[in-house]
Amino acid sequence: MFAEAISRALDIPDVYDMTTKETSTINEYDMLILGTPVHGFNPSKESISFIKNLPETEGKEAILFITCRLWKGGTFGKLKKELKKKGYKTGLCVEVKAKEFTEEDFAGAINKLKKELKK
Ligand SMILES: Cc1cc2nc3c(=O)[nH]c(=O)nc-3n(C[C@H](O)[C@H](O)[C@H](O)COP(=O)(O)O)c2cc1C
Repeated sequence: MFAEAISRALDIPDVYDMTTKETSTINEYDMLILGTPVHGFNPSKESISFIKNLPETEGKEAILFITCRLWKGGTFGKLKKELKKKGYKTGLCVEVKAKEFTEEDFAGAINKLKKELKK
């Protein structure tokens, strides 16, 4: 839901499901915007597997967005560490916290993304 809200707000049509897409597609892009729910104070297993399967790069920028209910724990740190192993530089990290997510919950985070992408 967050990924789709970002896609619409920023007019980025290419949204990929990390569990179904081939990771080599990433080579066609200059930037990775990756999101995951927080599971047990950590990134989802799917997001870590996805990163581990990424082709190596040199200093490509990654932007992270996460959703959680209460506390994100070490989620960003873990994602950054795995991305760094693949040569990514992580820039903006945005978090949305809610019990039941609605489009409105994403508005603040989307504004931060918009600002970052205008730079
Ligand atoms: C197995 C599991 C573990 C979770 N662990 C956490 C957690 O450690 N911290 C937290 O704030 N939310 C936790 N949550 C809540 C999820 O982060 C939240 O439901 C999710 O971000 C909503 O996004 P989704 O609809 O894409 O799953 C957990 C949810 C599940 C199902």
